[in-house]
Amino acid sequence: MYCIKKITEDLTWVGANDRRLAMFEGVYSVPDGVSYNSYLLKDDKTVLFDTVDKAVQQRFSENLTEALGNQPLDYLIVQHMEPDHSAGIKELTLRYPEMQIVCNAPTLTMLHQFFDFDIDSRVRIVQEGDILATGKHSLHFLMAPMVHWPEVMMTYDATDKILFSADAFGNFGALNGALFADEVDFAKDYMDEFRRYYTNIVGKYGTQVQAVLKKAASVEIDTICPLHGFVWRKHLQDIIAKYMLWSTYEPEEFGVMIAYASIYGNTENAAEILSSKLREQGIKTVMFDVSVTPHSDILSAAFRWSHLVFASPTYNAGIFVTMESFLNDLVAHNIQNRTVAVIENGSWAAMSGGLIRKKLEQCKNINILDNTLRIKSSLKTDQLADIDAMANAIRATLDKPALDSNPPGKHSPSQRGEGIDAQTLFKISYGLFVLTARDGDKDNGCIVNTVAQLTDSPLKILITISKANYTHDMILKTGEFNVSILTEDTPFRTFEQFGFQSGKNVDKFALDKNAADKESIRSANGIRYLTDNVNGVLSGKVIESHDVGTHTMFVADVVQAFSVSEGRSVTYQYYFDHIKPKPVLANNRTPGFICQICGYLHESDTLPDDFICPLCKHGAKDFVSVS
Ligand code: FEO
Repeated sequence: MYCIKKITEDLTWVGANDRRLAMFEGVYSVPDGVSYNSYLLKDDKTVLFDTVDKAVQQRFSENLTEALGNQPLDYLIVQHMEPDHSAGIKELTLRYPEMQIVCNAPTLTMLHQFFDFDIDSRVRIVQEGDILATGKHSLHFLMAPMVHWPEVMMTYDATDKILFSADAFGNFGALNGALFADEVDFAKDYMDEFRRYYTNIVGKYGTQVQAVLKKAASVEIDTICPLHGFVWRKHLQDIIAKYMLWSTYEPEEFGVMIAYASIYGNTENAAEILSSKLREQGIKTVMFDVSVTPHSDILSAAFRWSHLVFASPTYNAGIFVTMESFLNDLVAHNIQNRTVAVIENGSWAAMSGGLIRKKLEQCKNINILDNTLRIKSSLKTDQLADIDAMANAIRATLDKPALDSNPPGKHSPSQRGEGIDAQTLFKISYGLFVLTARDGDKDNGCIVNTVAQLTDSPLKILITISKANYTHDMILKTGEFNVSILTEDTPFRTFEQFGFQSGKNVDKFALDKNAADKESIRSANGIRYLTDNVNGVLSGKVIESHDVGTHTMFVADVVQAFSVSEGRSVTYQYYFDHIKPKPVLANNRTPGFICQICGYLHESDTLPDDFICPLCKHGAKDFVSVS
């Protein structure tokens, strides 16, 4: 029985999922399965984008038959010849003898290598920039060599602004009934597999990925349809940003990945003590036993973290087998721009440390810290100082980016005593948040713009809130709050609901038409949080409060934090540029002063210095004259 999914009026997913496959390409574990995506475009002419793996041919055939209805199949565009996408080509030529195969010249060569049917009579060769017009749609071809094989090309539907991206932006994991990435909690449940897919499948080809991202940047894209995993119709900039980062081999996070091999636990013990010392310094660490964890997971982590530690016994006068195999894989995937530390073990004729260094010296821009930690069979008490020294050396290099971000000699005018331009404050990258609190049966919330992480370990944040806000009084009394981090798709009405009225007079949550359904949406502290247009929630327990004049600054321990969506956090600037309606004055309207924050119009010839906006509580400095 068919199982198809509509993407647009004209485009249908006709792929299939495989949850029985143990090892994708014989090397990558896929515990959550994998999808093989194929797409059918129905226009005056019908076009199929790629086929599927032989394991799921039957479902694919049923899907295609259903989606085509009584139309013939006119074109098959072959974007990638790897058999997980090309296995169905021969059968299609038998079922649809009039079908033309649209591909580039390297694909034609591979078609001859993989198949033995009459190919040439039905092939239409395209190259970079060629267009296939199918009626309403015009399909543009972009070559994408080595993303992942040399023949790969992508197709851009200029009519619906859809990029068919071949392997790029793909993911491991079966679709499980969803099709769009925004239907699932992608950040929580799929981002690790998205990274593992990229790093293992195309991680080696960063330069080629950069080239194709450059081409993609020249067209407007609303939807991305990859050959594996979810279709993207929201937050495209987020995944493109990830590809930009990974393809330049820059780390995503500052912290230490420790990969170790250990025969009897002694090398593991040294690795663990190092990890513990790093944690004591507030440095994030992850640890992997290379003999246990699949190498594709460790490789993915190596692309994620800024610092890598490799610890290995000496074995047969070389590196321990599983570590050597992992390092070969890592070097083959072109890892770059990392700081590395090495731990060597050897009961006699220790060799592994030097050999690990030699292997990694093949990679670009790898800073291998000078002192290898050398263990003879097992770590001894007098070597704890060496572990401390290694932790300190790692710490010293971790500090560097923070120092570099504020190079000497760059001072703002105010630091040079040239006065204060209040507009400069708007350039700080404030976010916008709904701050919620609960006092007995009363829920309330307001909009704030000052939330910042103070420390990582222990995790502390600070918030500041105007004393004029009812939420302020509730937090002062209860010492607890939630911060819902708003996203760029937040509608203006949310700011009106939480920002332009007082909880002393109205129940702000009663204004939510779904309030009854959402009564249970509370975090562990019993305080409500927002679920729509929010990407994350932090629950804080106040440990200090400071009177800062008009506001109180609360310092709080983070007692709960969770991701809600993949949306981009809204900034103050974005709010001004895209969300807040521009004030429009009628010709006969009384001139006055407009609040730049919420748009409130104060109809008067004058504005007192101590004027406070009755809606959003901002002061006179945030008003501009419209007279
Ligand atoms: Fe899913 Fe490179 O193929």
